[in-house]
Amino acid sequence: MGKVTVIGAGNVGATVAECVARKDMVEEVVLIDIKPGLAEGKALDMLESAPIHGFDTRITGVTGDYAATAGSDICVITSGVPRHPGMSRDDLLSINAGIVKSVTESFVAHSPDAILIIVSNPLDVMAYVAHQASGFAGHRVFGMAGVLDTARFRCFIAEALNCSVRDIVALLMGGHGDTMVPLPRYTTIGGIPLTDLMEAEQIDAIVERTKKGGGEIVQLMGTSAWYAPGAAAAEMVEAIVKNSKRILPCAALLSGQYGLHDLFIGVPVKLGHRGIEEIVQIDFNGDEQALMDASADHVRANLTALTRVLAQVGG
Ligand code: APR
Repeated sequence: MGKVTVIGAGNVGATVAECVARKDMVEEVVLIDIKPGLAEGKALDMLESAPIHGFDTRITGVTGDYAATAGSDICVITSGVPRHPGMSRDDLLSINAGIVKSVTESFVAHSPDAILIIVSNPLDVMAYVAHQASGFAGHRVFGMAGVLDTARFRCFIAEALNCSVRDIVALLMGGHGDTMVPLPRYTTIGGIPLTDLMEAEQIDAIVERTKKGGGEIVQLMGTSAWYAPGAAAAEMVEAIVKNSKRILPCAALLSGQYGLHDLFIGVPVKLGHRGIEEIVQIDFNGDEQALMDASADHVRANLTALTRVLAQVGG
């Protein structure tokens, strides 16, 4: 796999491009944006950092020229508007649906065999839009949310326990929003269950902070995060490029798994050259199932809103 396109050269897209390039694992990264000069400028700036960082990945920036993306193996879609204080991810739906639909159509016309990773919010619904617009099989279209949300969860646990983030393995499922479903029962530190090392009250506080982790940053900066989202998408790209069969939480199209159909929601998946190679199923306890069902209800409500929006934009 040699070519990765990143659509949207804003905060998240540029970070994805840089993280992918610095891993020095693909020949070329193409950054594309609608705003003239933005992708070209950021691509050139990144390329000029290559001698310092020591990577050989070629980075090209273009304005709206999808011919330059032709033959991509993977595409990360970040185009759209970010959140500002007081907004939920769902508030972005009406604007981002039209953007994600049109960029997906333009991209797949030149790269019919690519794998699509969606980052634009509201994530679970934008993954659905890209799936519909591409006509690709479900295993080739999925969303980045769980890798970011578990990274936040792991970060807060490491801080609380004063231990290395590298030893924390966590699982988090459900939609990308306040209804996400962190699973402390499936979280370990150096192989030791989190529940053995931390009181329930402290775990609950960290779970709550994780759910609102995106909002915490929006409050601080006035716009949404990019370092962790960009790194998270690049980690998914790496798993696919290297065919490493990593098990990562991603927003995947479900067809009966977890009792859910025809919606994208966060579940553990195995990533390799084919994209999603397996959706891993775990047994929930009663509380966890109820949280997952509530999260799915939320995603479904957004899909209903999407139907109205797409009718307006001629979809
Ligand atoms: N085609 C290409 N690029 C587009 C299009 C389009 N049709 N519409 C918008 N863009 C570009 C903008 O020009 C901008 O450069 O998408 C970029 C978005 O960048 P930012 O405004 O910096 O937003 P960012 O923080 O990167 O977030 C992008 O990712 O995490 C999500 O919620 C976030 O939906 C948001 C998305």
